[in-house]
Amino acid sequence: MSNQPVNRRRRALLGAALLAPVAAAVALKPRELGGGHNEAFLRMQTALRDAGLFRPTLVIDRASLLHNIGRLKANLPKSKHYRIVAKSLPSLDLIRTVRQLTGTDRLMVFHQPFLNLVAKQMPDASLLVGKPMPIGAAARFFEHLTDATVFDPAAQVDWLIDTTQRLQEYRDLARANVAAGSAPMRVNLELDIGLHRGGFRTAEAVAEVIQVLKAEPSMRFSGFMGYEAHASKMPGILGGPQKALDKAMAQYSSCVDVARELLGSDFDPDALVLNAGGSSTYELYTDASPCNEVSMGSGLVMPTDFDKPTLADHRPAAYIATPVLKALDRTDLPGLESMTGLFSSWDPNAARTFYTYGGYWHADTVSPPGLQHNAIWGHSTNQEMLNGSAQVQLAVDDFVFYRPHQSEFVFLEFGDIAVYAEGRIVDSWPVFSQGA
Ligand SMILES: Cc1ncc(COP(=O)(O)O)c(C=O)c1O
Repeated sequence: MSNQPVNRRRRALLGAALLAPVAAAVALKPRELGGGHNEAFLRMQTALRDAGLFRPTLVIDRASLLHNIGRLKANLPKSKHYRIVAKSLPSLDLIRTVRQLTGTDRLMVFHQPFLNLVAKQMPDASLLVGKPMPIGAAARFFEHLTDATVFDPAAQVDWLIDTTQRLQEYRDLARANVAAGSAPMRVNLELDIGLHRGGFRTAEAVAEVIQVLKAEPSMRFSGFMGYEAHASKMPGILGGPQKALDKAMAQYSSCVDVARELLGSDFDPDALVLNAGGSSTYELYTDASPCNEVSMGSGLVMPTDFDKPTLADHRPAAYIATPVLKALDRTDLPGLESMTGLFSSWDPNAARTFYTYGGYWHADTVSPPGLQHNAIWGHSTNQEMLNGSAQVQLAVDDFVFYRPHQSEFVFLEFGDIAVYAEGRIVDSWPVFSQGA
């Protein structure tokens, strides 16, 4: 019997075994990326240069902001009021712009110093506190309110209460305020409608608190706040976003029913603040939803965390721009200088190095294309290293553009916001200061 077929099979197997790692390496080898800024980023770069902003700068593209405000106005059901999420648009001028174009006086505020600032600088606003403040923070708000002459906290602040324990703490403060001549404190109840970040979970628990409030002359039940950020992230296998929102709204509705029942003729849905929503879900609301207002903030500037199907008609409006300080034609890593050629022949996108003015923000580079972080070198908030291929068109004093992951907090890291419109920086908007 001939050995030939056996030998041929063995040779084929050997060939496949040798080729497999080569094929895997070819498949895994990074593809060369790169390019220059497109026309829009080139114009923004020129605008920053013309404005003398050669430092990390938060830029808002006014046309995209206006587009997003237009989408909000078109999408919001007619029967729902709009509430601005101040932490996501943390600048008085930005909030003023949004107020002017949407006609709302409703703000949701999440930080005691911001609460004091808004009360002082925007004394016509109605404020809903977006998370339950420690009682000490609420007391400090009143202590620091001395400058606000027009703002009436009893009428214009809805304090968020998540537990009966906190209700008791706030009752003592409310009683002291009323004894000093104030009207009763407005109390809004946080509902857990599926996010499980705290708040009252059942209609029975809500009923108990409303009964306490009915009997307490220093406090007044002002409505509900139910946040449902989980809904937009709900995978299809668990029913998807719409089903999660429907479930949340059914629970919300049962709490509104309890309030109607207990308050009787005092139940006035128009006078209550029945808050729900956020950027990633606001487009799913309809006139039939049991809330009477919807909050949203981030969707107006569109940081990358909000690149979601439910916001597909919104556009990115916020960028971080920062100058390149050094542009090197090679990537040398300390102690690994002998590997320089090896690294760049494996990954062409590691061939060149750019050091930028600042960095390590919660943000992704967006222009020019093809920039990447170097995992061995790490990060720097002082001079961040970015790598790119020979195709990346970037020189010293050019700008790198990022998109922030979120607007909350990240917007506060750059000083004034540079407002960009039609090829120029047209305005400078101071941002909130974290503490005062
Ligand atoms: C209570 C509450 N409502 C609404 C929002 C929505 O804010 P945004 O529209 O900026 O996502 C948030 C965000 O954290 C929130 O905590």
